[in-house]
Amino acid sequence: MKMKRVQLTNGQELHIREAKPEDALAILAYIDQISEETDYLTFGPGEFVISVEEEARFIERLLVSDNKLMILALIEDMIVGHLSFMGGSRPRTRHTGELGVSVLQEYWRCGIGTELITYLLAWAKSARIIRKINLRVRSDNVGAIRLYEKLGFVCEGTVTREFYVGGEFYDSIQMGLEIDLP
Ligand SMILES: CC(C)(COP(=O)(O)OP(=O)(O)OC[C@H]1O[C@@H](n2cnc3c(N)ncnc32)[C@H](O)[C@@H]1OP(=O)(O)O)[C@@H](O)C(=O)NCCC(=O)NCCS
Repeated sequence: MKMKRVQLTNGQELHIREAKPEDALAILAYIDQISEETDYLTFGPGEFVISVEEEARFIERLLVSDNKLMILALIEDMIVGHLSFMGGSRPRTRHTGELGVSVLQEYWRCGIGTELITYLLAWAKSARIIRKINLRVRSDNVGAIRLYEKLGFVCEGTVTREFYVGGEFYDSIQMGLEIDLP
């Protein structure tokens, strides 16, 4: 399991590593917190319902998969960011998958989102399986769209009424990054 250490723009040391089954409880606590801090995810407070045991089993399966990844960003052993990438399960789609990323509000704009996605891109290039990364982002999530564009993702289209939050529909933007190997 590769560990990446980086110094953040605020001077703190960040560790990035793959999630382990023993992280399940802390990951669910992280998800509870982030769901209170943003309306830009596909779940709201209390809506991500999964037991610690199920989450641990899910992580175990990811660890033996060659086209799926869950990584954590940690500061002094506390989870401050999370990224998941789920590659397809059949031969025709295993080269492509969906990215999801989040960072605790207290740590926004410190470079953690950038570091998480950069780790994913390095993993994808070294494993030489993933050739396309897809994601959907709420169309008014300007900060996230800017982050993705900065890392080379391009807008591929609009999916209307993808989100229903607080009695309102929101569109999402389909974005993607093609990975060409040398
Ligand atoms: C989107 C998110 C993951 C970004 O993570 P982050 O660690 O804050 O991102 P970074 O610090 O690496 O930002 C990199 C660049 O993205 C852009 N960016 C990020 N957040 C921004 C914001 N709120 N407004 C404008 N630009 C922003 C900037 O260009 C930034 O570079 P800069 O700080 O040098 O100007 C984080 O804000 C988050 O978790 N938001 C809530 C959940 C969410 O929206 N997830 C994405 C769902 S698709």
